[in-house]
Amino acid sequence: RSMALTPPEVLARKGGVPIVCLTAYTTPIARLVDPHCDIVLVGDSVGMVLHGLPSTLGVTLDMMILHGQAVRRGVERALLVVDLPFGSYEEAPEQAFRSAARVMRETGCAAVKLEGGESMAETIRFLTRRGIPVMAHIGLTPQAVNTFGGYKVQGRGESGAAIERDAAAVAEAGAFAVVLEKVPDALARKITAQIPIPSIGIGASPACDGQVLVVDDMLGMFSDFRPKFVRRYAELGNDAQTAIAAYAEDVRQRRFPDESHVFADEPAAGRKAGN
Ligand code: KIV
Ligand code: NA
Repeated sequence: RSMALTPPEVLARKGGVPIVCLTAYTTPIARLVDPHCDIVLVGDSVGMVLHGLPSTLGVTLDMMILHGQAVRRGVERALLVVDLPFGSYEEAPEQAFRSAARVMRETGCAAVKLEGGESMAETIRFLTRRGIPVMAHIGLTPQAVNTFGGYKVQGRGESGAAIERDAAAVAEAGAFAVVLEKVPDALARKITAQIPIPSIGIGASPACDGQVLVVDDMLGMFSDFRPKFVRRYAELGNDAQTAIAAYAEDVRQRRFPDESHVFADEPAAGRKAGN
């Protein structure tokens, strides 16, 4: 495919081959995930994953734009979606439009994601009617961690009905897809069957129309963060720790650099520049 996947093409995947989504925050990771993903998400999880923030609440529009620009340079075929950060859209549809337009103009992304269901339906309608495709995000919405009192499963028992209403509201408002985060399997199945737009699950259900994970989580970058909903496909954190320890020991023992890494006084004939 020569052109990137579009929001209408993602919408058309409802009920079909599962939609594959991963986060990316940098150009090299974007280049790694792009050939395999339908959607590359510049999540506001960047604040916790790359900047060491305690939650996503400290993430700014400028941070999202800087990472969005980096990821843009590594994405050719997937749909690029950038999160709107806390405080940049909740106040009013007009505020959301200004933030989203700036993100799209300065990063070249084709869509934005924002958190909220019924409460954000008016905003989602405002944006989509003005040329800004929106991915919604309901269930556990991490920007609301303080009102939830933690990163808890949402929608168990009676409270599931409210999340069903959120899903219906964002679909009706024109979102082209909706992230369902940390809700019971049965609720995610029910919502997926009820709504006309793709559900993208994280800690939700294999029955969702797609799945998303934070790329650093599935690559095993962290030893201290192992949520139940993540499958670790690599142990890059361990591998990096082993590599760094080996380098440190080699330097201390004068085993690195060796003769293959150093330069002769005269360049050797036939060698490429720099050697
Ligand atoms: O910020 C993020 O990474 C996200 C996904 C986990 C859905 O919102
Ligand atoms: Na997010």
